Amino acid sequence: MSRRAADIEPFRVMDILARAQALQAAGRDVIHLEVGEPDFPTPAPIVEAGIRALRAGQTRYTPALGLPALREAIAAYHQRRHGVAIDPARIAVTPGASGALLLAVAALFDPGEQLLMADPGYPCNRHFARLLEVEAVGVPVDAASRFQLTAAAVERHWGPRTRGVLVANPGNPTGTVIPRSELAAIHAQVRARGGWLLVDEIYHELIQGRDEPGALSLGEDVVVVNSFSKYWCMTGWRLGWMVLPAELMPAVERLAQNLFLAAPTPAQHAALAAFEPATLEILAGYKETLRARRDMLVPALRALGFEIPVQPEGAFYVYAGLGGLAADGEAFARRLLEEAGVAVTPGRDFGRHATKAHVRFAYTASRDHLRQAAERIAVWSARASAP
Ligand SMILES: Cc1ncc(COP(=O)(O)O)c(C=O)c1O
Repeated sequence: MSRRAADIEPFRVMDILARAQALQAAGRDVIHLEVGEPDFPTPAPIVEAGIRALRAGQTRYTPALGLPALREAIAAYHQRRHGVAIDPARIAVTPGASGALLLAVAALFDPGEQLLMADPGYPCNRHFARLLEVEAVGVPVDAASRFQLTAAAVERHWGPRTRGVLVANPGNPTGTVIPRSELAAIHAQVRARGGWLLVDEIYHELIQGRDEPGALSLGEDVVVVNSFSKYWCMTGWRLGWMVLPAELMPAVERLAQNLFLAAPTPAQHAALAAFEPATLEILAGYKETLRARRDMLVPALRALGFEIPVQPEGAFYVYAGLGGLAADGEAFARRLLEEAGVAVTPGRDFGRHATKAHVRFAYTASRDHLRQAAERIAVWSARASAP
């Protein structure tokens, strides 16, 4: 086995999921708050478009950068939603944001170069970097910076081998947003050093309560990753996209041709219905449901003794400090599952900086289930701490 394969850490949440499923198979009732995918169905207009495409025999490869009609639809969406005009030729349709992130790291960085990213943060990014012999530098972040990178942190950590910065806005596992002025300051720092700024906006449509402009409005040199997985509830369809500076497109096209050939064809046809008014109406309803869940779960967790110093503003995650409840998130998650039937993700999945003392709750379950989960935790922790 290669050294690079040996260096890829397991995704601990998958162990929790497997154990939760085994318990369920044995008849136990488990509330799933561990996996980061919406519990809502893909909106019907998208499903219908996918079925129509399959029936019409749309099962062969598309061009490597995606169906021209989908690239145009994505460009029109950016124009409508954020008022930013983008040439569809700058859009690459990819197998999820995962495909986009892999392509971006492959296209932009050489072995030995460094890419700054927040710790805690989405774990696969540092593994994509490792695979390509790029050094992921985890920059410790905490509540003081809303668990996000700042321009000052970028300046402090930029070294002679640093070539770029990757942020997720909002972030996973914290659901916190980089304020617009800070993102612009990060962009200015990166630009001044001749590096690349990559912004993962997979949760951007799930920012609650306000309209945040996307990173594309910062300039044409920003690489913006997005996906149909989360907001559009299409995790299993494996479809995302990326907007890049025009001069990178030939390289990204060559990489896409060789790595993936193309994104899944039925999914691309289905996604043509993603921006229809009927679809957007369904998604607005889902988003409102998520807001109501967050507004219930965060105070309930705080009342149980979890520490949530920054209100999550987007995505569907709460990153909770264990405070006096426990010292080790992994042991806590295991016991919570075995003894109370509630599955959560250990913070350790998301990096090294104080992650051991955290767990992540994904509110991808109904409010009834969230309420039950809070009750189970209350009863369990009262019992666990009883003399
Ligand atoms: C921040 C972030 N980026 C990218 C991804 C990958 O998403 P997908 O490949 O399903 O589009 C995820 C999935 O959880 C994520 O949380």
